[in-house]
Amino acid sequence: MSLETLILAAGKGTRMKSKLPKVLHKVCGKPMLQHVIDAAKGAGSSREVVVIGSGAELVEQTISGVEFVLQKEQLGTGHAVLSAKKSFAESKGTILILCGDTPLLTSKLLKNFVAAHKSSHCAATVLTAAMPDPTGYGRIICEDDGTFKKIVEEKDATPEIKKIRETNAGCYCFDVEKLFNALDKIGNDNAQGEYYLPDVLTIFKNAGEKIGIFTAEYADETIGINTRIQLVAADKSLRMRKERELMNNGVTIVDPNTTFIDTDVKIGQDTIIYPNTYLEGKTVIGEDCKIGPDVRFVNMTVGDNVTAHFSYCHDAEIYNDVTLGPYVHIRPGTKISDGVKIGNFVEIKNSNIGEGSKLPHLQYIGDSDVGKGVNIGCGTVTCNYDGKNKHRTKIGNNAFIGCNTNLVAPVNVGDGAYIAAGSTITKDVPKNNLAVARSRQTNIVNWKDKRK
Ligand code: UD1
Ligand code: CA
Repeated sequence: MSLETLILAAGKGTRMKSKLPKVLHKVCGKPMLQHVIDAAKGAGSSREVVVIGSGAELVEQTISGVEFVLQKEQLGTGHAVLSAKKSFAESKGTILILCGDTPLLTSKLLKNFVAAHKSSHCAATVLTAAMPDPTGYGRIICEDDGTFKKIVEEKDATPEIKKIRETNAGCYCFDVEKLFNALDKIGNDNAQGEYYLPDVLTIFKNAGEKIGIFTAEYADETIGINTRIQLVAADKSLRMRKERELMNNGVTIVDPNTTFIDTDVKIGQDTIIYPNTYLEGKTVIGEDCKIGPDVRFVNMTVGDNVTAHFSYCHDAEIYNDVTLGPYVHIRPGTKISDGVKIGNFVEIKNSNIGEGSKLPHLQYIGDSDVGKGVNIGCGTVTCNYDGKNKHRTKIGNNAFIGCNTNLVAPVNVGDGAYIAAGSTITKDVPKNNLAVARSRQTNIVNWKDKRK
């Protein structure tokens, strides 16, 4: 059965004290709203409508694959749901409502929550949690028989109610038609002068509807982010979750406390991650690699059996059996083929490096196509920029570039060609030729004696 989801993300996020809309703040490398959307999709949601307001334009630009509705004025969570009424005019059955600031929700929890609601035949079910510190959350008040009575917000709570640890997670399943019929009836007579969504539950109850309570097994999964301190706590928690998942799948993480792996990163079996390593964005790493210490990979695709230490690589591809570092910078648009060795202060940008080639020390290679089995000597520089345009350098298979060579692009070095150390190459070097492009050495006999 299809499931429709409404996500509330229009709030100002006042407590974040930020120019960025709260729901775009990242947790484990991904905007918190995106985490919520992904959790809903993973739980079988087939349509997500997101209510936006504060920073609406930026949210729309950043998040894709969902529908948006605008809540012009942020008058509370109940008002936010009401602003999406038209989007659900044709809907029937269950609607899942989530907040955009609860990024630790898991698909598994939401799946179980929705399943429990559907089998209970309640008009609404609220997700709750036993929070170690419930401060800031709405509290669940139950009748003597344990059934739902009402939700009281922190700001409306008496000291007695504040002691209750069972909190409202801000996630609900509703019968969609009953929800929108009741929403018009909620008021804003409360401490914040807002239209509270939880008040719909009271209206349901007064109308004799059954309301279910579903308590999350792990309270941590329901935490809401209102402040930067909570943001960091959520980030830590999600990173630990990610690292545990990787370790359970056969990845060694030598020191999880100093390793930072974003949610969507994938790592193969028997790869070892050493300390101070940052694996970010859409990075994918194969099997049997040794990554770190001190490596930062952003949106990298890396094959099997790759070794990298003390290096920064972004938006590039590395094939199998490659060695990187120390102090390598691989920049966007670079493809490094099998068995390449790159070491000691080398920068490569927008270039292809062929199988088995060696760039062992102090090179800058930009806008270049380097063939197979090429040896590039220490200190070689491609002069790819003439101050106006970028030009390409081509180096054929098995060429040998002597130390301290300048390759002034556009220029081609043929297969098997040799370049003498210290040359500045401005003309093409044909296949198997030796190019010498430096002034000849002169030795002046007894020069020291003559000087006296
Ligand atoms: C809300 C709940 C509280 C619950 C907590 C769980 C209400 C009244 N309170 O409190 O019971 O324990 O979440 O984390 O619902 N939003 C809008 N438009 C608005 C106001 C809010 O879209 O006019 C969105 C926000 O962007 C946010 C979500 O709704 O993603 C929750 O709003 P927030 O202000 O954070 O509510 P809490 O005070 O945390
Ligand atoms: Ca919140």
